[in-house]
Amino acid sequence: MPKALLLENIHPDAAQSLRDHGFEVVTAKGALSEDELIDALDGVDIVGVRSKTSVTRRVLEARPTLSAVGCFCIGTNQVDLDFAGRQGIAVFNAPYSNTRSVVELVICDIICLMRRIPAHTHHLKHGLWDKSASGSHEVRGKTLGIIGYGNIGSQLSVLAEALGMRVLFYDLEEKLAMGNARRCATLNELLEQSDAVTLHVDGRKSNTGFFGEDQFAHMKQDAIFINASRGFVADLDALKQHLDSGHLSGAAVDVFPVEPKKNGDPFITSLADEDNMILTPHIGGSTLEAQKSIGHFVSQRLEDYWEKGSTSLSVNLPQINLGPNRGVTRIAHLHANLPGVLARVNHVLGEENINIAAQSLGTEGELGYVVTDVSQKPSSKTLEALRAIEGTIRMRVIS
Ligand code: NAI
Repeated sequence: MPKALLLENIHPDAAQSLRDHGFEVVTAKGALSEDELIDALDGVDIVGVRSKTSVTRRVLEARPTLSAVGCFCIGTNQVDLDFAGRQGIAVFNAPYSNTRSVVELVICDIICLMRRIPAHTHHLKHGLWDKSASGSHEVRGKTLGIIGYGNIGSQLSVLAEALGMRVLFYDLEEKLAMGNARRCATLNELLEQSDAVTLHVDGRKSNTGFFGEDQFAHMKQDAIFINASRGFVADLDALKQHLDSGHLSGAAVDVFPVEPKKNGDPFITSLADEDNMILTPHIGGSTLEAQKSIGHFVSQRLEDYWEKGSTSLSVNLPQINLGPNRGVTRIAHLHANLPGVLARVNHVLGEENINIAAQSLGTEGELGYVVTDVSQKPSSKTLEALRAIEGTIRMRVIS
């Protein structure tokens, strides 16, 4: 029976789904240290982690028979992806499962900031009745500037338009504009026209400090600012200055340059005393719906990989989307991306007069992956010969 270990309180639907697919599943609430993880992975075929368990090179070296790692979250930088690939260990994540949750939080931020809800709440909590329309606006007809028009940015675009907002976006890459959204050729063009500016860029290193004094200075008088992307992308000292000077009318920040490691840890931010400010502890994607959806999405990728050899949506292996076996035996062969490996695989099979019923090849960077459905069960001698082909990283027989 294959064995799966699921750490960090992954949604129970994932464990159930893996059990339904024949896995013995062990679950644990917390994260594990490197040494604890090495111990716990003894005899484990598939491990599921979230963001707090690091699957380092040392862990992967110590457990070379591990087959796959499921990151039940969006990010994958807790796993040494390159080394995992070179060891033949597939890594999967859930890139879209909490997109909607982030979008809904941002819509909430925009409406609340435009109605000055944080400020009104603060006044009432301190015993001050201040009923006034001053500084409060409908979002209808206002311009939303979306920076980073990927999964989240583009879905936000659709929902914002449904609320009657005019949408502008800026992205480094050519992107299909949703609905009536309009692409800006430069960041400043977007900043100078937007009543609300929201960041949805990815976490690449070059985005460190991407939104600083210069960018805030280009924003419209009384505009609002939102960051629910990555903490290191925006300069919060510059934001504070633009709030204090009265240039910007409010802000919502969900992600911070340094975030506490665990719940209950203290957290201090210089933005705490701002009037029209929403501060949330990186909960953009944290909804029960998103957790459930992540549980389903990643467990299905792991099951498909285990049962069919399918690497569709893997973040570190060449991607092949496979249907059911069209022969008797399926052989998944991961190798260094060198010329002639496919020919050698077929030559070895031909030596035993084995007919190929179907074959798929994918290459990506230094890796090649060929999956062959053959019409008869290969002998152990043939399987050994396939394993012995130069450049072979891992070979798996899937019946
Ligand atoms: P994505 O990868 O689909 O989209 C990112 C987009 O930003 C891409 O289109 C890319 O070309 C663009 N981009 C990158 N750098 C840029 C720059 N300097 N200027 C303009 N465009 C740039 O990512 P997705 O899934 O939409 O996520 C966006 C961000 O949201 C990520 O940073 C992610 O980590 C964060 N996130 C935050 C969550 C939260 O709980 N607050 C939950 C989920 C994601």
